[in-house]
Amino acid sequence: MDSFVEEILLSHGEIVRICERLGKKITADYQDKRPVLIGLLKGCIPFLAELIKHIKCDIEIDFMQASSYEGTKSKGTVMVLKDIATPVKDRHLLLIEDIVDTGFTLEEVMHLLQDRGAASIEVVTLLDKPAGRKVIMNPKYIGHEIPNKFVVGFGLDYNEIYRNLDYIGVLKESVYKK
Ligand code: IMP
Repeated sequence: MDSFVEEILLSHGEIVRICERLGKKITADYQDKRPVLIGLLKGCIPFLAELIKHIKCDIEIDFMQASSYEGTKSKGTVMVLKDIATPVKDRHLLLIEDIVDTGFTLEEVMHLLQDRGAASIEVVTLLDKPAGRKVIMNPKYIGHEIPNKFVVGFGLDYNEIYRNLDYIGVLKESVYKK
């Protein structure tokens, strides 16, 4: 195990099996709907890349970057740093997230996309941290529920590092409490 990690929560194999399960569900639910998968940068990248291998119906992909985090804490105010190019009026949208914690980011992004006239919006998240929730946010597709700990890997970062780990682990407190 890497020295900065306290515990491995999901191995690479487990993540792939989660993506298979979610991909099957999405395939069944979105046949003939040609959904737009909107990946929330940057954490969504490895998850989206694995997930789409298991979706067997027509989809489109776009990306948005919204930011509310600094270090290990959510600031509660969300800024859109990069917007999608796809018109979403009357389209079925799937927001692809690495993790839902407070729910602030998704709440803000969902309002924005609702205002643009999306036909439906659902959330697909690899991880859910329900104990961190500050707003009502119930993702339809959840990979794995985790305790209220700060995790890294498979897209998730601490100050922009560790996104390239192929597993998800709990970051040792000694790394960020100095
Ligand atoms: P929320 O707005 O608080 O739900 O935060 C969502 C975003 O915060 C995620 O897309 C991540 O970028 C980041 N985040 C939340 N919890 C963690 C964590 O445990 N590790 C790394 N990033 C996290």
